[in-house]
Amino acid sequence: MDMSDSNFISEINKRRTFAIISHPDAGKTTITEKVLLFGNAIQVAGTIKGRKSGQHAKSDWMAMEKERGISVSTSVMQFPYLDHLVNLLDTPGHADFSEDTYRTLTAVDSCLMVIDAAKGVEARTIKLMEVTRLRDTPILTFINKLDRDTRDPIDLLDEVEDILKIKCAPITWPIGMGKEFKGVYHLLRDETILYKTGQGHTIQAIKTIKGIDNPELDSAIGIYAEELREMLELVRGASHEFSHEAFLKGELTPVFFGTALGNFGVDHMLDGLIDWAPAPIGRQTDADIFVAAKEPSFSGFVFKIQANMDPKHRDRIAFCRIVSGKYEKGMKMHHSRIGKDVRISDALTFLAGDRSLLDEAYAGDIIGLHNHGSMRIGDTFTSGEKYAFTGIPNFAPELFKRIRLRDPLKQKQLLKGLIQLAEEGAVQVFRPLMNNDLIVGAVGVLQFDVVVARLKAEYNVDALYEHVNVSTARWVYGDPRKVEEFMRKTEINLAYDGGDNLTYIAPTMVNLSLAQERYPDIKFTATREQ
Ligand code: G4P
Repeated sequence: MDMSDSNFISEINKRRTFAIISHPDAGKTTITEKVLLFGNAIQVAGTIKGRKSGQHAKSDWMAMEKERGISVSTSVMQFPYLDHLVNLLDTPGHADFSEDTYRTLTAVDSCLMVIDAAKGVEARTIKLMEVTRLRDTPILTFINKLDRDTRDPIDLLDEVEDILKIKCAPITWPIGMGKEFKGVYHLLRDETILYKTGQGHTIQAIKTIKGIDNPELDSAIGIYAEELREMLELVRGASHEFSHEAFLKGELTPVFFGTALGNFGVDHMLDGLIDWAPAPIGRQTDADIFVAAKEPSFSGFVFKIQANMDPKHRDRIAFCRIVSGKYEKGMKMHHSRIGKDVRISDALTFLAGDRSLLDEAYAGDIIGLHNHGSMRIGDTFTSGEKYAFTGIPNFAPELFKRIRLRDPLKQKQLLKGLIQLAEEGAVQVFRPLMNNDLIVGAVGVLQFDVVVARLKAEYNVDALYEHVNVSTARWVYGDPRKVEEFMRKTEINLAYDGGDNLTYIAPTMVNLSLAQERYPDIKFTATREQ
């Protein structure tokens, strides 16, 4: 390495790579905007929304996203905050979403959970939290929309603890709500930060009052001051104290209150992120080695592949999370699965949403590699070592349709297209053992339309869907002899996925549980590692 070790280490230490998990409408987009505002990545809030329907929405399936006002893509934004460098990986938050959302969570080191203060814990948040539990990812929490009428903050914390099974440590505490929202008290700094309305679009000077017993507080917020003092005793008694260790283990979440729209409180959360969230964490490999981020030799894994992000570049981009070392322009990487070296001179970085070429990147960063068909989700790049990173899962789809050609002569193109789209992780394909059906499985319903649009645009194949009597799938494993017997007896419910892995596809959940009872030696799993 041409740099001094201490510089290399400090580059890694200053990085924080995180994603936001939330239920649609809780405020993810608004928070992203404010975070970029604090990161000086944008000048005035309001530009992200514009981009959703702006210049990127050109290709067919992107036009579809635009039509529905949904961003199917997961983008990456890098920005500086104080003396740190933050990578924010955007996860599609709408009702229609895909496995990409889940896999993005394998590429981050911490997550911000956003909760709507009027609604509390919602369905999508529960699902995404389950995914973060697979790796015990540290979670920060932002309770949003305090400028509206909200539920009782103590109730909200109780609900998070009960439903999500994570302890809450309030770092700030809200004073009033809705029209009477006065600001927050910072429990660790012992200061009150006062809220002013109408400051949503820019960063403004804020007024803080040091000390809970400061008479200035009484003059500033009147009767709320005394109420706050009483409340805090209750809060301190009823909630958990912040513990950095418990946070890093994913057992406890620091909680911040505010309003993203009013640009209040997001910076407190960012301060928490850089102070407490882990610097880039290493990853486990199939060779039983743990590769630490500070390992000097380059390594990384592909967690997402996206086609035609920019209509001017009709290629696919493989998003690679750097696990260790440093990327330098023109360097050679070893593509572990195919056992070949590739020279990469044109990796992309994603500075606040725009893609540009970069010269170097470090562990924790995401780089975009041009993919001409050789890269798959889960692929590992190293400096020559043969290992592969583990932990990049496939999730059993929950929605299924049979796909059929309008023109039966194009069967070959259809299969090729489907297998490639499956390799990208857009959908999964299943081929039953007993017939020639092709069944498409997806996690989100939008994926079906994306697939048909892309088959047409990229493979010139006209396909349509039909109902199929499948409602759940599980990958199956076991002792080869037992699997053989199982295959003989349940052939009618078996299929191979795009990667030739055996799956049990069931018409109902009852059917699945009966099969699980009947064949205790067979393992049925809802996730499969790449
Ligand atoms: P999402 O990405 O999680 O889906 O949420 P998004 O930020 O788009 O926010 C959803 C709605 O909630 C938006 O309103 C947004 O303006 C509003 N919102 C976000 N944060 C706050 C907040 O702190 N206080 C209040 N009162 N509202 C907030 P919308 O009307 O659906 O969209 P728009 O027309 O404002 O864009």
